[in-house]
Amino acid sequence: MYHNPVLLTKSVDDLVTNPDGIYVDVTFGGGGHSREILKRLSDKGKLFSFDQDLDALKNTIDDERFTLINQNFRFLENSLMIYGIQQVDGILADLGVSSHQFDAAERGFSTRSNAPLDMRMNVMQHLDAKKIINEYEEEQLANLFYYYGELRESRKLAREIVHHRKLKPIETTEDLKKLFSYIPQFKQNKFFAQVFQAIRIEVNQELDVLKEMLVQSYKILKPNGRLVVISYHSLEDRLVKRFLKNGMFEGEPTRDIYGNYAKAFDLLQTKAMIPDKEEIAENSRARSAKMRVGIKN
Ligand SMILES: C[S@@+](CC[C@H](N)C(=O)[O-])C[C@H]1O[C@@H](n2cnc3c(N)ncnc32)[C@H](O)[C@@H]1O
Repeated sequence: MYHNPVLLTKSVDDLVTNPDGIYVDVTFGGGGHSREILKRLSDKGKLFSFDQDLDALKNTIDDERFTLINQNFRFLENSLMIYGIQQVDGILADLGVSSHQFDAAERGFSTRSNAPLDMRMNVMQHLDAKKIINEYEEEQLANLFYYYGELRESRKLAREIVHHRKLKPIETTEDLKKLFSYIPQFKQNKFFAQVFQAIRIEVNQELDVLKEMLVQSYKILKPNGRLVVISYHSLEDRLVKRFLKNGMFEGEPTRDIYGNYAKAFDLLQTKAMIPDKEEIAENSRARSAKMRVGIKN
């Protein structure tokens, strides 16, 4: 299976309020969420889905109401403009990588298989994990392990990489893992998950593109239009939470003349929704999912 969609019914229930409306799924993947959205739309409804991975295109849906756009969602607004779409009723983002991308060993996303250091969602892109590990300055490496991997020993890790790559280029996921074989066995899974997460975020510029997409989503949503975001780690969720609350990512939100905060969205639920035990038991990817829904003011 390409991908088992997370929070499928709940996310689409919260997203689709107008069967005749125009909807966007910015992370098509295996198309699970897109198919569910189409089920809720009338003949007049339309769905535009995005995925930057060529592999996802083979899951396209044969339906007149549907358009699949092979593009990074950082180009959301302009890409929709090409189809004459300026305003939409709802946008869904199910962030991160698909199970297919993890399972395709040769793409280097998984800590479990040996593969070239790659981790690009878009294989046409220039920057890959190998470039980052072999060419970034020590300080850049330390920063990305610290900020994106939330690894406290980030400086030490960066120093070790720089030391080893002078002797021999680090080409594969196994080469990289070998450098840290001194990490106690019981800590390795978590440690390598954090290291790989950090590199993957940098390769795909995941936090930057998320911010760009959120800002554009706000612009193109109709009043009362809904933004549904499912995220899988705290760095993403923090950005989504702040943006839905304040319409910005950092700093103090602006106040109106009465001193009230200008609210970009009303929140459908104040706390993030998480999958129930049954879903987590059946789909391990659901374990870290958090869903937030904003209704545009
Ligand atoms: C978690 S999967 C989505 C799964 C999908 N909801 C389903 O039901 O199958 C995320 C997908 O979004 C794509 N993706 C991630 N970031 C993207 C971006 N910035 N632009 C376009 N596609 C992106 C990935 O290539 C991947 O296929």
